[in-house]
Amino acid sequence: MLLYQLFVLILKIFFVISAVSPNRILRQIGLSSLSDETTCQTPKGENGNCINIKKCQSLSNLVLISRGNPQISNFLRQSQCGYDSSIPKVCCPDKYISTKNNSNLNNNNLSSSWSDCGKSEKKDTRIVGGKNATKGDWPWMAAISYRSTKSNEPDFKCGGTLISNRYVLTAAHCVSELPSGLQVSFVRLGDLDLDINVDDELHPTDVSVADVIVHPQYSANPHINDIALIRLANNVQFTQYIRPICLLSGAEYRRDDYYNKKRPFIIGWGALRYLGPVVTRLQETSINVIDNEKCAEMYKNQRAAVIDERVLCAGEPGKDACQGDSGGPLIFPNSTENKFYLGGIVSYGIKCDNPDYPGVYTRIAEYIDWINEIMNRRTASR
Ligand SMILES: *[C@@H]1O[C@H](CO)[C@@H](O)[C@H](O)[C@H]1NC(C)=O
Ligand SMILES: *[C@@H]1O[C@H](CO)[C@@H](O)[C@H](O)[C@H]1NC(C)=O
Ligand SMILES: *[C@@H]1O[C@H](CO)[C@@H](O)[C@H](O)[C@H]1NC(C)=O
Ligand SMILES: *[C@@H]1O[C@H](CO)[C@@H](O)[C@H](O)[C@H]1NC(C)=O
Repeated sequence: MLLYQLFVLILKIFFVISAVSPNRILRQIGLSSLSDETTCQTPKGENGNCINIKKCQSLSNLVLISRGNPQISNFLRQSQCGYDSSIPKVCCPDKYISTKNNSNLNNNNLSSSWSDCGKSEKKDTRIVGGKNATKGDWPWMAAISYRSTKSNEPDFKCGGTLISNRYVLTAAHCVSELPSGLQVSFVRLGDLDLDINVDDELHPTDVSVADVIVHPQYSANPHINDIALIRLANNVQFTQYIRPICLLSGAEYRRDDYYNKKRPFIIGWGALRYLGPVVTRLQETSINVIDNEKCAEMYKNQRAAVIDERVLCAGEPGKDACQGDSGGPLIFPNSTENKFYLGGIVSYGIKCDNPDYPGVYTRIAEYIDWINEIMNRRTASR
């Protein structure tokens, strides 16, 4: 109930501007649309229907990613066309209104699907050394499985992070220019031990991949813009063990000073040491952020490395991301809000745990516009 109230509060904040300026609503949708379920024009000029936002999949998905993003928040406000009790109604593009009795929509209720990013079972955000992760602590963690011409066994080679009920964020190098014969096959969500013979009391879901969207300016050498989105073939149902993370979006997260002295978490199924065995049980550790200036100095002899505002560096002796951790999250806890935020994506390093070279992470805050654009466009053209 508390979550529900919180959600309604968030919705009210999004829509408060339209609520106090009814003229704008009227101009956009016409007087007649104040009655129930009538036609309207979306801010993009498409035909739509004014319905409860819960019934409009495309806009409800946006609420999740709108935090700290003025463009999306604005778009949501402009889409508002009234209230259904205390829940806002929005001008939903025709193609998104669910015509069939979609049980997913019923289950995808407000409290569990929209405002609940970054929530986890994790109570203890103290510094840890590398250790086995606990059930429910990292519900956005995704394992990316590959198909090869050689074997039919699922082969998990990269990590990813669930950011909505349809998208997983990962590194571009995990999905682009793959060795020949290797192909992204599916994404596993809600798992802890990838070995099916180990009973971790979880019921992971394997979701097929519908599409892979690599950042258009991704380059492997020099290594820049190492970020990609995986569009899942269907919406995932959130549970205690499958939930999206929040994104660090906003101007303050593009500056280095936010990150200095922070100790984010890294998690992954990657090798614990360079060329060591890949573990089947999810591992977690927390590490120091190293400021970009110092990091750039450390990498100055590595021509492929570009250390600028598009990356974050982190590491300390004995702790690093390694092969197989690629694409996985760099996670910043917010203890005030009791939520976790994605700040980076594991990109590269020199070997692993090499004190001369900290790990390099793609800085999410620099790519928020691109992420939103893809999620919007794909949702809007489905
Ligand atoms: C949708 O299905 C549920 C359960 O099967 C049923 O209770 C409900 O009345 C249905 N709603 C509509 C609008 O058909
Ligand atoms: C919404 O989801 C939450 C969490 O999954 C659940 O506890 C609650 O009963 C659901 N509410 C409705 C109305 O389905
Ligand atoms: C970590 O998990 C593995 C695999 O589930 C298990 O064999 C090992 O004993 C665990 N280690 C600790 C310290 O709990
Ligand atoms: C946590 O969230 C609060 C409220 O949004 C914000 O003021 C604060 O700066 C955040 N703290 C960190 C460490 O990000």
